[in-house]
Amino acid sequence: MRPPRSPAPAAALLALAVALALASAAAARHTYATVPPPAERADEEVRRMYAAWKSEHGRPRGNCDLAGGEEEDRLRLEVFRDNLRYIDAHNAEADAGLHSFRLGLTPFADLTVEEYRGRVLGFRGRRSAARRAGSTRYLRRRRDQLPDDVDWRQLGAVTEVKNQEQCGGCWAFSAVAAMEGINSIVTGNLISLSEQEVIDCDSQDGGCNGGIMQNAFQFVINNGGIDTEADYPFTGTDGTCDANRVNEKVVTIDNFVDVATNNETALQEAVASQPVSVAIDAAGRAFQHYHSVK
Ligand SMILES: *[C@@H]1O[C@H](CO)[C@@H](O)[C@H](O)[C@H]1NC(C)=O
Repeated sequence: MRPPRSPAPAAALLALAVALALASAAAARHTYATVPPPAERADEEVRRMYAAWKSEHGRPRGNCDLAGGEEEDRLRLEVFRDNLRYIDAHNAEADAGLHSFRLGLTPFADLTVEEYRGRVLGFRGRRSAARRAGSTRYLRRRRDQLPDDVDWRQLGAVTEVKNQEQCGGCWAFSAVAAMEGINSIVTGNLISLSEQEVIDCDSQDGGCNGGIMQNAFQFVINNGGIDTEADYPFTGTDGTCDANRVNEKVVTIDNFVDVATNNETALQEAVASQPVSVAIDAAGRAFQHYHSVK
């Protein structure tokens, strides 16, 4: 039995959604002719790096497409080698000033880019996503009052970085982060909220197989609130929504608004008011291996 708790008052809040698709067309215009690819690493070195990487990141292979075994390991080594080649080439270009960021051996270093996409990406956006009329609660600032920049982390409205692991639940993390932000702004309490409750219980979305943030907001509205991360922690897998479980409704929202498409002023206004929920195109190979700014 859980100890009784005095229910926290559910604040009436508003969350915002914006879906951004980053165009990759510009990348095609770069020319890297001045940076020759670095020398191929010796096989022995690649094997040593693979072994070191595995001891740090090697995860239990529960999925059928990644069943263990020597043959699988040989295949993984070759994928790792190919990724390392890509990473080394990118970093040589970064050293020459062609990129603003470096790549490295992330937990996805033994996955092909197709596997990475299938495993981690979960935004199932569509153009016809729910549109909502502007809410009167969304108090836009006048354009001449907009700050040049705002960092909601410094203003205490953003929780620690969370790890979605091998679950395509980005949509839930994105929506929950926006709700954590607006709750912090309105109530002064930064509370980490439960992605897992949304993943398990929002039947409009596909849990770890993907979803959209607007549905997550709507779920929280219909549900009358959302539980805390501490009370309903992330498991990294699709769970069943337990009808007998009494989830605390610690925070709720009363509306959400889509930021106007392709309108940076509208986005600037929204970001000045509160953290917004975004989906970005993370399907690129550079994103899979992103390590750090230079
Ligand atoms: C973009 O958004 C701003 C602020 O909401 C609005 O004033 C402006 O009319 C919009 N521009 C277009 C082209 O819709």
